[in-house]
Amino acid sequence: MSLIDYFTEDHHACDETWAEVERLVDEGQAAAATAAWARFFGEMERHFTMEETVLFPAFEEATGMAGGPTQVMRMEHQQMRGLLEQMNGAAASGDLAGLVELGDTLLMIIQQHNKKEEGMLYPMCEAHVGDSWDSMHAACEAVGPKPA
Ligand SMILES: [Fe+2]
Repeated sequence: MSLIDYFTEDHHACDETWAEVERLVDEGQAAAATAAWARFFGEMERHFTMEETVLFPAFEEATGMAGGPTQVMRMEHQQMRGLLEQMNGAAASGDLAGLVELGDTLLMIIQQHNKKEEGMLYPMCEAHVGDSWDSMHAACEAVGPKPA
């Protein structure tokens, strides 16, 4: 699997987990929804960590562009982490309606963010560091397993 496919598929996996959270909340399955939420939270943090500790540094080193697109992506990750923490608070207090409401905002940010990564940043990464993808892939996997 290529660099672009790997990260794009991971975006889709996170999207699917969030859709599952929404569905379970809709169905009133609170325990299952809370479990799916915990999985989503872990999947998002894992994705951010793979980008911030493996992909972005490789790109920044290869291009000398540390204040460019990766910095914007890092800032957006922080913005999303803020929302995710708020959502965690809602989930922890059993406020699943609040969780889903905050999730609407998160989803809008995610969609914009992923569009930028998939449309621009990942192709740039492929062009500049695609040759080292094998070792980067191993480093990404070493970040940890996908939350079960
Ligand atoms: Fe991403």
